[in-house]
Order: sequence, then structure tokens, then C-alpha cells
Amino acid sequence: MSNGFTIWLTGHSGAGKSTLAHALEKELTSRHISTEVLDGDIVRTNLSQGLTFSPEDRNINVQRIGFVASLLSKHGVGVIVSAISPYRTARESVRKSIPGFVEVYVNCPVEECERRDVKGLYKKARNGEIPSFTGINDPYEPPLNPEVEVRTDLESLQESTRKIICFLEQQNLIGEIK
Ligand code: ADX
Repeated sequence: MSNGFTIWLTGHSGAGKSTLAHALEKELTSRHISTEVLDGDIVRTNLSQGLTFSPEDRNINVQRIGFVASLLSKHGVGVIVSAISPYRTARESVRKSIPGFVEVYVNCPVEECERRDVKGLYKKARNGEIPSFTGINDPYEPPLNPEVEVRTDLESLQESTRKIICFLEQQNLIGEIK
């Protein structure tokens, strides 16, 4: 059985993690790679139901996602995680337990995420309706040495997807298409 890997997309809410996750899923599936997306929003409705956005609960959420990702990666699956995962130490901790861990910093300035405000949550956070909102009144710690960094405010979705796929090819985590 071939080794799996985990593409861990970290970045602000509204940075484009889910969009990128689905573009990657489509690309990997077209190459006949067994793929699974673990999206923070969805995980929080089942595996992490009831968890808050306190630092402790965010870390538990990240650990749980990391645990599932490690099991799947060990069994040859290409896992794509899409979660803010704002704290560096929590990401470094899951990195240790996941074979083929590829941290991708989905970088988009928070001002741009707020301007997009796809879910209307930044407005609510500014109005004081959501306490501890990442980037507004809760910290986001960017990766210091991510395997890949994409700039969703400057690159097209296709460019960002391509960067990540190229990295996987270079590392022999997936085969190259001739
Ligand atoms: S994480 O911090 O634990 O990694 P996760 O990715 O699962 O976060 O969930 C983030 C999503 O929850 C956001 O995209 C947003 O839709 C929603 N959300 C609700 N409250 C908050 C908050 N206080 N901070 C950030 N996101 C929040």
C-alpha cells in the first residue's frame, strides 16, 4: 500500500481554505488517489460537536482532526484538512503524529477576509456578537516554516492548487502526470 499524506490548510476564516480543499480533492480524485476532506466547520457538527472557540477547545478540535488524519494517512489516504488551527504549538504537535504532513499557509490578509466576509461573521465579531473571533479579538499565529504558502488575495485558485500539487509531486507523495 502506498503511503498517504495530509495537506493541512491553516489560515483565517474566509481565507479560502474550503474552496482550496475542494479544488485539491477534485484534482487528487482525478488522479485516482483516495481522498478525504476534514473541514473544521463540518467536524464541529459531529466529531467536535459542543466544543467552543476557547483556546483549550480549539486545541482539542485540532488534536481530534489530527488523530483522524493520522489514521487515514497511515492507510494510504490523501487527507485534506481545512481548519483555522490558529495556534502554532497545536499544529506542531499534530505534525509529529502524521506521516507525510504538509502544512499549507493559506495566507490572505485579515483585512481582505473581513472585506469578503462570506459568512457575515466578521461583522458580528465587530459588533461584539462573537467573542474571541480569530483575527479580530483572538490571535492567529502564522506558520514560520510552512511546506507551502499560497496567497489567495494575489493568486488564482488554479495557481494556488498547482503550487500544492507540485509540492506533492516533488516530494513523491503523488506521482507526476507525464
Ligand atoms: S479552529 O480554530 O478550531 O481551527 P475551525 O476551523 O474548526 O476553527 O472553525 C472555524 C469556523 O467556525 C469559521 O470558519 C467560522 O465559520 C466559525 N466560527 C464561529 N465562531 C468563531 C470564532 N470565534 N473564531 C473563528 N471562527 C469561528
